[in-house]
Amino acid sequence: MADNENCFVGENNTGHIWDADLRELSNPPPRWWTIAFWISMGWVVVYAILYPMIPYGQEATKGVLGWTQMKEYHQGMAEIEAVRAPFEERIAQMSAAEILADDGLASYVVASSKVLYGDFCSACHGSGGMGGPGYPVLADDEWLWGGTIEAVVTSITNGRRGVMTAHGKILNDEEINSLAQSVIARDVASNPLYMSKGCIACHGMDGGGMAILGAPSLVDTIYRFLPEEGETQLESVKYTIRHGVNDPSDPNTREAEMPAFRDRLSESDIKKLAVYVHRMGGGQ
Ligand code: HEC
Ligand code: HEC
Repeated sequence: MADNENCFVGENNTGHIWDADLRELSNPPPRWWTIAFWISMGWVVVYAILYPMIPYGQEATKGVLGWTQMKEYHQGMAEIEAVRAPFEERIAQMSAAEILADDGLASYVVASSKVLYGDFCSACHGSGGMGGPGYPVLADDEWLWGGTIEAVVTSITNGRRGVMTAHGKILNDEEINSLAQSVIARDVASNPLYMSKGCIACHGMDGGGMAILGAPSLVDTIYRFLPEEGETQLESVKYTIRHGVNDPSDPNTREAEMPAFRDRLSESDIKKLAVYVHRMGGGQ
């Protein structure tokens, strides 16, 4: 190291030299850098005066502007409320059918109700109303309880609970199989058992379903109860016929209950959700 010191005459090095020519210099930083450094130091002081900054105990200096994050949040919310207020007032006064008929308002409802649907409905009905195991699809035009806007409002307000009696004790295996085959073939009306065993009373003359009872069509391609893993649709249909739905006399009955929302959501929110569901595609 000492040997090299003379090789760099007039250079501002610190005397730290490695590997013969690797030196630590002590030049001043560039001017632009120094200026930027002092400007940022100055900004820290200005910032500390204007805004909350220096902590002490549980608090911090307040800053002369009086700015707080909460204030900014409340201001932002107030602005959003102001935009929404005229819509919300109209929604409160109109029926769900009237809202649906008003294109602008219905679009506002669809755009603003996604969160509401996500919070209260999607756990069961899936995002976008795609349904789930045991939960009906809302985005199609097959309805248990009717797809008019009024019927949808009623479904949400009061909840729904379809009841189908378990037929395991009334029908033998052959009869269950025969009826299930007819359901899969989408032709129940030609099966004499359909009438003689009373299915007709709930599922209708031609098997098209009855909305007042929540009984689905047995002749369309949409199944209310999809098979579980490893099960065929035929087996799933047989299960429904054997154990029924919400039949308390059969411990293996299918359970299907739409909870009532009248105590959990405001009337406006229920109207909004009805419009939202109706606009998913399958409203009638
Ligand atoms: C705990 C699960 C659950 C939640 C939460 C739920 N539902 Fe349901 N929903 C059901 C079930 C199960 C049915 C079918 C009832 C039946 O089989 O009779 C249903 C039925 C419906 C129907 C009638 C469908 C038809 O075909 O007639 C509508 C409309 C509906 N739900 C809308 C909603 C909306 C809107 C929400 C959110 C506010 C919601 N549901 C929340 C379980 C749920
Ligand atoms: C008391 C009325 C009632 C009777 C009687 C009845 N059902 Fe049902 N059935 C229903 C209801 C209600 C549902 C839908 C329940 C739900 O989704 O909550 C249903 C559902 C079904 C399903 C499921 C449909 C699907 O898409 O997955 C099948 C299959 C079915 N019934 C077949 C029959 C057959 C066959 C008979 C005659 C042996 C029969 N039902 C008798 C009311 C009835």
